Amino acid sequence: MPNKILVTGGAGYIGSHTIVALLENGLEPIIVDNFSNANPDMLERLKGITGRDVKFYRADCTDRRAMRMIFESEKDLKGVIHFAALKSVAESILQPGRYYQNNLNALWTVAEVMQEFDIPNLVFSSSATVYGQPVELPVNENTPLSPPTNPYGNTKLQGEQYLRDLVTSGAAIRPALLRYFNPVGAHPSGLIGEAPLGAPSNLVPYITQTAVGMRQQLTIFGNNYNTPDGTCIRDFIHVMDLAEAHVACLQHLLRASDPGVETFNLGTGRGVSVWNAVTTFEEISGKALPYQFGPRRNGDVPAIWANVDRAQEVLNWKAERSFALALEDAYRWQLKAAS
Ligand code: UFG
Repeated sequence: MPNKILVTGGAGYIGSHTIVALLENGLEPIIVDNFSNANPDMLERLKGITGRDVKFYRADCTDRRAMRMIFESEKDLKGVIHFAALKSVAESILQPGRYYQNNLNALWTVAEVMQEFDIPNLVFSSSATVYGQPVELPVNENTPLSPPTNPYGNTKLQGEQYLRDLVTSGAAIRPALLRYFNPVGAHPSGLIGEAPLGAPSNLVPYITQTAVGMRQQLTIFGNNYNTPDGTCIRDFIHVMDLAEAHVACLQHLLRASDPGVETFNLGTGRGVSVWNAVTTFEEISGKALPYQFGPRRNGDVPAIWANVDRAQEVLNWKAERSFALALEDAYRWQLKAAS
């Protein structure tokens, strides 16, 4: 029998790609999603890619009764990947209460129900935002954390801290904290990808939507940073690489016997500037991208990229796909979505 893994937020952007990777690696994912930021047609799309019907529950992770019923029905779960969260930086500044309530309550409820049902293995979606603007680059997992610049980031930092406190208390839980850098790209089929509600706030969806005419032009936020070309630097990781990291992490947790918290940076180890992103996109698409330079965006750190040695050593995983491929896949997805 394949190992059953509960995937909260499994219909979302990173979640759906992880479902594909789990199936490809012989695991049996079960989705829990409230479809607050995902479309139920995701299940059909996943079937189109994998040929499989993925079991799913429409439920909110803050609903303890619903979560208990799911765990009751899925008795032999081997672990949980907890993606379900609100994730818009801008929205979190306007609605902090909603972000704290949803993100922390969902994590708390999932972690408590896991303990009730004796399921220790938990993969938690954290973010590089917990590093703030680091003094030294690249950042490794021991780089001191600094306060994030927005409530969304705070919920990730506090989520990490909660799981640490839980382990310190002796609770039977084994969390892995995955600090994502900048996930981009889409499945090569073009059937699943990033579908932000309204105007995208992230760079790559803004680029691809501009290329297909949904947006007039890209604004590059700041070209006077202290970086080689003046624009910000990020570590963009292909979402399929990120998805495969979740599989490697789960397999690691299934093998592990020691209790404790483990933390992994998930990036490529390479910094790419916003300007590089624009020119690489122009090369792969053969299109000139309309853009303008604008003022810096509040809360942006000038540069961050990951040291990914720990993930390579412990999980035997590293990102394999190039940034150009991620842009190509994101563009294919966008073209399909626009057609
Ligand atoms: N950018 C633009 N124009 C745009 C959008 C973005 O120039 O229209 C620039 C930003 O200023 C930034 C870079 O592109 O320099 C990347 O911006 P994103 O919004 O794509 O990504 P961030 O690095 O700001 O955000 C990511 C995740 C968040 C996370 C944050 C901090 O999306 O979830 O990193 O780790 F909180």
